[in-house]
Amino acid sequence: MQVRLLNSFLLNYFIISYGCQMNEYDSARLAAFLEFQGAIPAINAEKADMILVNTCSVRAKAEESAIARIRDLKPLKERNKSLKIGVLGCMAKNRGESLFKDLPFLDFVLGPKDYGELPAAKLANNYSAFIAIQSGCNMKCSYCIVPYVRGMEQYREVDSVLKEIEEAVANGVSEVTLLGQTVNGYRYKGLSFASLLRRVADVKGIERIRFMSPHPKHYSGELLEILLCEPKIAPHVHLPAQSGSNSILKKMKRQYTRENYLSIVEALRSSNSLYGITTDIICGYPGETEEEFEETLSLLREAKFDSAFTFAYSPREGTPSALEKEFLSEKQKKARLQKIIDLQHSITLERAKLMIGQSEKILLEKLSRKNSDEWVGKTGNFKRVVVKAQPNFREGMYVDCVIEGVKGHTLRGVASQF
Ligand code: 5AD
Ligand code: SF4
Repeated sequence: MQVRLLNSFLLNYFIISYGCQMNEYDSARLAAFLEFQGAIPAINAEKADMILVNTCSVRAKAEESAIARIRDLKPLKERNKSLKIGVLGCMAKNRGESLFKDLPFLDFVLGPKDYGELPAAKLANNYSAFIAIQSGCNMKCSYCIVPYVRGMEQYREVDSVLKEIEEAVANGVSEVTLLGQTVNGYRYKGLSFASLLRRVADVKGIERIRFMSPHPKHYSGELLEILLCEPKIAPHVHLPAQSGSNSILKKMKRQYTRENYLSIVEALRSSNSLYGITTDIICGYPGETEEEFEETLSLLREAKFDSAFTFAYSPREGTPSALEKEFLSEKQKKARLQKIIDLQHSITLERAKLMIGQSEKILLEKLSRKNSDEWVGKTGNFKRVVVKAQPNFREGMYVDCVIEGVKGHTLRGVASQF
């Protein structure tokens, strides 16, 4: 830790987190670090002596909403003179000192690298843990700001990863999600991502293994084999496709073709047609023609994604694509985005309906917010299931159920052993 955040007095901290799982993970590590130094979590921003806003730069919108939120914190500073407000994360790195100009009441700004040495091991909850195995990204996709704010790829030592997982298991965790920007590119002293997965699966007490986000470039035969053969690896992948057009993929410098991408989908679904595949899609990349856009729609139809995060292209200063002329208006990009959303919506429903009649093991997450008579859980293929509450239901418990229906995008299940 290069920067001391705390003096020796006890303080109440509050973290506001934006963006990806990696950011969530960093927030959790910060919380662990602060608590190690004696700080106590505040129940809300109003009650805090220190507010940390962990930000995301990936899309302009994410930055704008973080800035608006930070601006809203200013009155709290007027009420509590000892309150410290700090900005952390990718936006802190991306905008650096200029943030002080826009938000002069800020006390400090720290990029992701400044807290890279924070201790790990703080759980997302009692049964599921995120474990970062990689930081940074070497890919340099033309539109993406991540390599500039998070730096070059670095992989964590295998033993330290396994130790963190074992500690998490000792605290009651049974599900782990391995994190990295191109997580399946992991290698450490000759050990591949597939071998790491095998080692994680060997940890006693681990029931479900997930990872995100893999890159289509790093799907070896060895990896596909373990994904399909190791029952502890959940049958779901979030595999960003970005576009269905080879010419756009080339401009984006994604390093794979539509055909490469679809061959991974086919391999995963050939042994399990319900294998969950979710994705990220960008539409309206500079110069994207109507035909190229249609190819993305046809990719959605062909790959039959279970769901997708869809984005209209937004130029990020400092990335190569930001120098390219945009021919599409915001309105045209929005119209394309809407077409993608509508099409994906119907595919998501179609995929959900295929689950009806299936026997599934779900991991219980929480009581339903709408109805305290119901629990919400997740299947291995990452679908939300609502089941009727039973007295012995607990967070983190695995329950066998049969899927009996679909409501919206959520499945309805009936627990079978109660
Ligand atoms: N414009 C739109 N979407 C973007 N993403 C990343 N950069 C941009 C950008 N400049 C999307 C990608 C990525 C997800 C996290 O955000 O789809 O996978
Ligand atoms: Fe960004 Fe591409 Fe790296 Fe993903 S793989 S973080 S899109 S540069």
